[in-house]
Amino acid sequence: MNFYTSLAHIYHDMYQDLFDYDAEFIFYDEWLTKFEARHIIEFGCGTGNLAKRFVAASYKYLGVDLNQEMLEIAKKTIEATYFQQGNVINFRNEKSFDAALITGRTISYLVNDDEVSDALINIHKILKKDGLLIFDLIDAQPLFDTFDTSTKELFTGKYKRISRSIPRSDKRWTWDWESTYYEINDQVESTCIGNDTATLRAFGDEEISEFLKNVGYDILHKIPKTSYTWQGYFLVCQKTSG
Ligand SMILES: C[S@@+](CC[C@H](N)C(=O)[O-])C[C@H]1O[C@@H](n2cnc3c(N)ncnc32)[C@H](O)[C@@H]1O
Repeated sequence: MNFYTSLAHIYHDMYQDLFDYDAEFIFYDEWLTKFEARHIIEFGCGTGNLAKRFVAASYKYLGVDLNQEMLEIAKKTIEATYFQQGNVINFRNEKSFDAALITGRTISYLVNDDEVSDALINIHKILKKDGLLIFDLIDAQPLFDTFDTSTKELFTGKYKRISRSIPRSDKRWTWDWESTYYEINDQVESTCIGNDTATLRAFGDEEISEFLKNVGYDILHKIPKTSYTWQGYFLVCQKTSG
């Protein structure tokens, strides 16, 4: 996968138009405020689009991402001390947190069940008593009920993306996503600037509930999330044991 490495700058430019970071920040801020959670960790923080909003709102914030290239972009506008490179599966820090967020559907990249369990266990260990876990996921049912394998074309700013999703037969609710990126030179001309392939996963309602229950979280709320593609929802969870 290179969308989050060599193509990180394209992600950063394109997703300003595809994700509504203002609305996402308001969503997280409301829940965090409700539970008086000020010391937070964001996994899959990417290029820092939410980070800058949390920092501006005086949260005690730490952003963690697997890919240094994404963090390098974040560090151009936000102080480097707010970020660390790491994997949600095993990232440890000497501190414990009031809340952990896994944002921008980052959990979709944990394709194996062991990775999902490990991430939830790891977060459980770094949360304070009664700490919050808030994350968004892709809903398996609507996606796989009528899986669309057609080629999609999407335009944002000076970029065009051609993409296609192919369901995998070896593992339920996973698919390979191929995308090619073009820079638009003028109305008709465009130059190919890179491509990416990634395996992604969606979750069934019962499946994610089981994962969370087994590790020791209560699901407090399930909230639909509007998205330009792959419908999903947020889960607001609370650490219950351990
Ligand atoms: C779709 S992007 C979301 C980025 C950011 N949250 C946003 O909304 O713009 C997914 C991010 O998850 C990161 N990521 C993927 N797997 C990860 C893992 N196992 N641990 C931490 N970060 C991961 C990628 O590097 C990428 O930055």
